[in-house]
Amino acid sequence: MPLSNLELVNEFAKDYDKNILKNIWNGPQIIFDETREFISSGNLILDLGIGTGESSKRFQEANCIITGLDGSPKMLALCKAKNIGKKLVLQNLEETPFPLKTDAFNGIISNGVFHLINPIKPIFSEAKRILKSKGIFAFSFENSDDVSNYCEIEKGVWMMKAESGVFTYKYSEQYIAELLNQNNFTVHSHKQFLAYVDNELQKETFFTIIVAQLK
Ligand SMILES: C[S@@+](CC[C@H](N)C(=O)[O-])C[C@H]1O[C@@H](n2cnc3c(N)ncnc32)[C@H](O)[C@@H]1O
Repeated sequence: MPLSNLELVNEFAKDYDKNILKNIWNGPQIIFDETREFISSGNLILDLGIGTGESSKRFQEANCIITGLDGSPKMLALCKAKNIGKKLVLQNLEETPFPLKTDAFNGIISNGVFHLINPIKPIFSEAKRILKSKGIFAFSFENSDDVSNYCEIEKGVWMMKAESGVFTYKYSEQYIAELLNQNNFTVHSHKQFLAYVDNELQKETFFTIIVAQLK
């Protein structure tokens, strides 16, 4: 039986930090820079797909209190070893509801995760439930300008099986905008960035990061 996305991603955990240095994963600094004006010391932040903690690290250094969800035990073990996160929970993000209280967090971040997940619609409803009033939801997703080699599985959603066996997804700007709108978020900032460079394949991957706020 082929391995599921989560089983495959779990196997990548041991090389993850080495690879993000090699491939220049810019997301952690960018999500922090885009979000910092909305975040204060002592804020409760939830990181969906915390991985080894690279995105949460900067928020923790800014005295935020981090809860991390991830479906990979090996990623979570590395995150814990780096002392990132007050509470780490093993959770498949494709399964909702998440084991978290309603109205509990000042902010949610999710960086470099949505391209590995389908569906994402329930995640937006969960974000609305879990965030306190005026809470911030900052997330990144892979650009969908080029969807060659992908197949459209729903209007505005494309899927591809990568060589590694991992299924990856692209979501259109319109699709994301509708999810935000349906869940009562307004957009504060919207920025495209070079997320990583694979020097071996000479391939650049662009993501968009959105910072939204519950109305
Ligand atoms: C590319 S890493 C990004 C990690 C981190 N957010 C960062 O900025 O470095 C993607 C993370 O999403 C997690 N992930 C992928 N699919 C998932 C799923 N279905 N449920 C939970 N976590 C998942 C992986 O285990 C991995 O830790």
